[in-house]
Parts: sequence; C-alpha cells; structure tokens
Amino acid sequence: MIESKTQVAIIGGGPSGMLLSLLLHQEGIDNVVLERSTREHVLSRIRAGVLEWSTVELLRRAGLGTRMDLEGHVHNGTRVAWGGAHTLLFDIHTYTDRHFMAYGQTAITEDLYQAHDALGSDVQHQVDQVELHDLTDQPYVTYTINGQAHRLNCEVIAGCDGFHGVSRGAIPASVQRNFEKVYPFGWMGVLSETPPLDDIWYIQHPDGFALASQRSPMLSRYYVQCDLNDRVQDWSDERFWQTLLERMPPELAASVVTGPSIEKSIAPLRSFVTEPMRYGQLFLVGDAAHIVPPTGAKGLNLAMSDVYYLWRALVGRYRENSEHLADRYSQVALKRVWDTTRFSWWVTTLLHRFPDQTDFDMRTRLSELQYMSESPVAMHQLAEQYGGFPIEDWG
Ligand code: APR
Ligand code: PHB
Repeated sequence: MIESKTQVAIIGGGPSGMLLSLLLHQEGIDNVVLERSTREHVLSRIRAGVLEWSTVELLRRAGLGTRMDLEGHVHNGTRVAWGGAHTLLFDIHTYTDRHFMAYGQTAITEDLYQAHDALGSDVQHQVDQVELHDLTDQPYVTYTINGQAHRLNCEVIAGCDGFHGVSRGAIPASVQRNFEKVYPFGWMGVLSETPPLDDIWYIQHPDGFALASQRSPMLSRYYVQCDLNDRVQDWSDERFWQTLLERMPPELAASVVTGPSIEKSIAPLRSFVTEPMRYGQLFLVGDAAHIVPPTGAKGLNLAMSDVYYLWRALVGRYRENSEHLADRYSQVALKRVWDTTRFSWWVTTLLHRFPDQTDFDMRTRLSELQYMSESPVAMHQLAEQYGGFPIEDWG
C-alpha cells in the first residue's frame, strides 16, 4: 500500500474537479485529483456549450479567459420557433442586462488541462476501485492504479465524479434523499464542420423538439428529439438532416448548411437531485449531486456555481479559520440547484413532444408560447431564468 496525504482529495477530473483543483491551487490549498478515465477520454467528451455570464466570469477569474474570450460567441438572446411559422426572441440582455456565451465544454476541459499542465498539479488518471472512508472523522480515500493499492489521507473530499461516480453512494442511505424524473425520450446530437446559424434556436414541433447550436465559426451542433430506444446506427446523416429541417420553419431550414457528421450520439434526459450535498467532510459537486435535462444547457453552469461555493468555503476554512461558509454549502448550493432543476424541467416540458400528450396538452403549450411572445412580464421572467439564477456573493 502506497500512502500519501493532501488537504483536499478531489474525486473526478471532469470540469468540476479540474476547476476546483485549479482554484484551490491558486490559493495555496494542496489537493490531488483522482480520475477514473484516461486524459484522452476526458478530453474527447462532447457536452453542451452555453455559458451563463457568471460561469464566464468564474472561468476568467481562474485565468481561463484567453481562448474563451477569443473563440466564444457572445449572445444577447436566443430564439424559439413553433407552429412552423412563429418565432420569438428570448431577449436576455434587454431584460437582465446580461449576455451569455456559446463556448463548448470540450474546449473548457482542454483549457483546464492545459492550465494544470502549466502548474504541474497532481492529477492521477486511470484510478480504479475508489472508496471513501471515515467521512465524519479523519477521511481517507483508497484506490488502485495498475493493480497497485494506494491510500490518500486528507481533510476534505470533494465528490466531483459525475452522476455514475462513487461519492454520492458513500453518504449513508439513512441521511440521503434522492429526487428523480426520467423523461420518455432522448436527444440525438450531431456535430458537423459547417457554419452554424447566427443564433441558438429552440424548436417546438408536433413531431418533437429540435435545437440548432454552435461551437465555432466552422463547427455546428444540432439536436433532434428521438425515441428512447433509438440507436445511433438508426440515424443516418440523411435521416438526421431531413428530420431537423422538417421541424424548422421553412425560411430557417433554408439557411441551414448541412454536411457530413463528425460525431453523433444519443443522450437520455433526466432530472435528479440528491440531498444533502454535504456529509461530514464529503462535499458533492456538479453532476455527482444533480442532473438536469440538457434543454437550456444548465448542467455545466450549475456545476460551476457549486465549485464557486465550495472554493470559497474552503478558502474560509484554510485562510480565515472559519467554518461559516462550509456549514452553509449544502443549503445554499441546493437553493440554486432546485431553482435550475425546476426551470430545466419546465422548458423541457414546454418544448418536447411527450408520447402520451393529447391535443389539449399541445394547445396549452402553444398558448403559453404565444403568451410569452406578447407579455413583457413573462419574457422578463424567462430571461432571468435562462440568463442564470443568482449566486450568493461569497467573495
Ligand atoms: N473515480 C474517479 N473518477 C470517476 C469515478 C470514480 N469512481 N466515476 C466517475 N469519475 C470521473 C468521470 O470519468 C468524469 O471524468 O468523474 C468525472 C465526472 O465528470 P462529469 O461527468 O463531466 O461531471 P462534472 O465534472 O460535475 O461536470 C459537470 O455538468 O451537466 C453536466 O455536461 C455537464 O459534464 C458536465 C457536468
Ligand atoms: C449545445 O450547444 O450543446 C446546447 C445549446 C443549448 C442548449 C443545450 C445544448 O439548451
């Protein structure tokens, strides 16, 4: 058994774990990241790409602004189309004075790994059999690398290991409560080296939802709602483009540049929240504690506000000898989690076709879209939520 020690053991080297690690290093707080996959695998994952302004500011604060500010596409609003002819601008900037940015999570992960390379930080890949111990006293983590057993003694464990990680399961069932909703459809996503539309478009159609998004001037991301049982091989490029264009209003469809896909994947949709987000010295962060359906692209943004809160809480502990913020972590993080979970559920319900949906359900959804396009009050409310729920100022 190889034994070592650190202040903060971070389980998971996705965006949550890597950003937390970077911010802690910058404050002189010692930490080690334990990641199950290879670096190549982590860097190849394609996820959403819309950043709330608070996320942009946090990434800049961590020193990750250079490439993001160069390549990210700043937007004032986003667009919705329904009924084949109606369109609506969600005017985020007019109502909230805020922008948002299209910049892919894959690029953020690359920027994070580069910053860690420059720092020479301790990121262990291909760790196996990770187990968390003694959470309410003197915590430690055991794991193996290439069959070799390790023990990492620490003061805090940050569970940043995503929805399928082990951290959440280390909290005793007697104190844990889980909330879940699984949606009866998936998203078929395509990446193509074609110029994207100027705006991000959400499309409601009787056959199902569609979304046009962007990564860079020559890289587009599109999605269509698909069946839960569909497999990627059921979706030829031709079928994908035809489905997407049929769901768009004709003038919009005419402006889409199609081309061969360079990546294709199907994602299921789920809402999930676990409570509490802290147990003893274990703090859950990001997807390890909550999942939202991708509509509205809130998953990464929510993970980033968790990271912010935990970072400030640990700076409070190690720099100011105060447990005040650490003690409030779960309660404050969960407030934003639930606000965002409700918004993501609502926008998913509004824009998708559910298998058991009646004509009545369809009409009430259309009426709601129409109402939003006519009422500045409804638009204001929507803009506030799409732009991002408030984050308490923890310094
Ligand atoms: N041990 C070590 N690492 C693990 C383990 C484990 N047992 N289980 C999972 N991991 C790693 C995964 O390989 C992954 O790299 O933890 C990482 C978790 O990363 P993400 O799933 O990306 O989660 P997170 O970092 O919280 O990122 C926020 O919000 O909605 C999403 O798309 C968004 O992925 C983004 C996420
Ligand atoms: C994406 O670009 O992948 C994206 C954009 C907006 C969403 C969801 C995903 O609401």
